[in-house]
Amino acid sequence: MTTLTVTQNFGKGAKDIAVYRKLGGYSTIGQKLFDLSQFEMIDLVQRSGLRGRGGAGFPTGMKWSFVPRGGKPVYLVVNADEGEPGTFKDHVLMQEDPHRLIEGMILCGWALGVRTAYIYVRGEFLPAIETLNAAIKQAYEAGFLGENIQGSGYSLDIYVHRGAGAYICGEETALINSLEGFKGQPRLKPPFPAVSGAWASPTCVNNVETLMALPWIFENGAEAYAAMGTPKSTGTKVFSVSGDVKRPGVYEVPLGTPLMELLESDKYCQGVVGKLKGVIPGGSSSPVLTVEEAAKATMDYEALAALKTMLGSGAVVVFNETRSVVGMLASLTRFYAHESCGQCTPCREGTGYADRILKTVVAGKGRDGDLENMLSLADNFSYTTICPLASADAGPIQNFIGKYRAEFDAVVARNPEHADERVTPAFRPGAFW
Ligand SMILES: Cc1cc2nc3c(=O)[nH]c(=O)nc-3n(C[C@H](O)[C@H](O)[C@H](O)COP(=O)(O)O)c2cc1C
Ligand code: SF4
Repeated sequence: MTTLTVTQNFGKGAKDIAVYRKLGGYSTIGQKLFDLSQFEMIDLVQRSGLRGRGGAGFPTGMKWSFVPRGGKPVYLVVNADEGEPGTFKDHVLMQEDPHRLIEGMILCGWALGVRTAYIYVRGEFLPAIETLNAAIKQAYEAGFLGENIQGSGYSLDIYVHRGAGAYICGEETALINSLEGFKGQPRLKPPFPAVSGAWASPTCVNNVETLMALPWIFENGAEAYAAMGTPKSTGTKVFSVSGDVKRPGVYEVPLGTPLMELLESDKYCQGVVGKLKGVIPGGSSSPVLTVEEAAKATMDYEALAALKTMLGSGAVVVFNETRSVVGMLASLTRFYAHESCGQCTPCREGTGYADRILKTVVAGKGRDGDLENMLSLADNFSYTTICPLASADAGPIQNFIGKYRAEFDAVVARNPEHADERVTPAFRPGAFW
């Protein structure tokens, strides 16, 4: 039976603190924790092998070890922006089990000496925001938040901060700018937030799911967590599965689980609807897998990297033979062009240009050379910008066109004049504006 480390309370009414405590919740907040030094706590998380579940997969304990102490106040900021297309696990986690997040924040707060923490939530997630606020109130009343938690001398305040629905505010430095009241635009790194983040103070930014794994690790031990998954991708991961499967949803499985088991098993998605054409394994920024690649993929950081894609936020988007990959790429490209914050020229101009080319292709006005133009643009705007948003658009462009080239060529060929006019689309008057 799969051990669940973050979703075990789903469907049990755990948003009420009384139920959560009956299920064993907040049992980690006591003498055993407060007897541990901050370094012992960081060491525990390092030994568990836990890696950030927000997308980059950076080792959590290592990130914590970068946070300087003894100087400026240290902030903890929970990244609950969840804007990556296909990702919908975090708001479900917060709605089903908000106290587990609070408990995880207390554990992290103790490890890093945090006095004030924020949960930055995507503005549209109103039910999750209400649930969190109600849970925080209960936690204060029960003495798990505020001054002198459980008589330990440790104090922690948590505030919920509503974002305004910009995808880029999920990027940690844009999120910090937005939290501070500035425009949500990424900052150049270094300095990294762990050293200089919110209000120029050390700031630990962690994803909701990352922090929610901590109570289980603390209770059951780092070794028990590291024993799950694969040697380098330890523990479990929560996947948001959508698209052409019989039972889309949020599923927690050990890392290293075969992708097809997640899609076919009766416990999870119960099978693909129609004939499989491809799978996006880790959110819209992760390169697509063909049917052959999907058949051999296992859901862990290393195996997906070997297939030149990534686990990302764990958003699995499944599509069958009835879907147009040209249409899918057009909608992704539109998304990235719309969400570009505009401060880097390659991203602002490049994503918009790619979007305009693809729109003309989809409208049946594609020309020979359009796809080469898209590929050349993607080459030029990846890894030349402040944050990875532009590369997140380039990856799908390169992969969708590379892996489904014949379908793209067929759509271009629908324009009877496609080969007649060999000029760059950008210079065709009236083509894009
Ligand atoms: C454009 C962009 C959007 C992102 N959106 C999110 C998000 O919605 N949630 C999240 O946890 N991380 C997101 N990230 C990753 C964060 O910058 C950061 O790495 C993460 O919150 C760190 O937490 P973790 O170590 O627990 O994963 C995004 C990154 C980029 C570049
Ligand atoms: S890459 Fe795009 S989204 Fe990121 S900072 Fe530059 S303009 Fe903004």
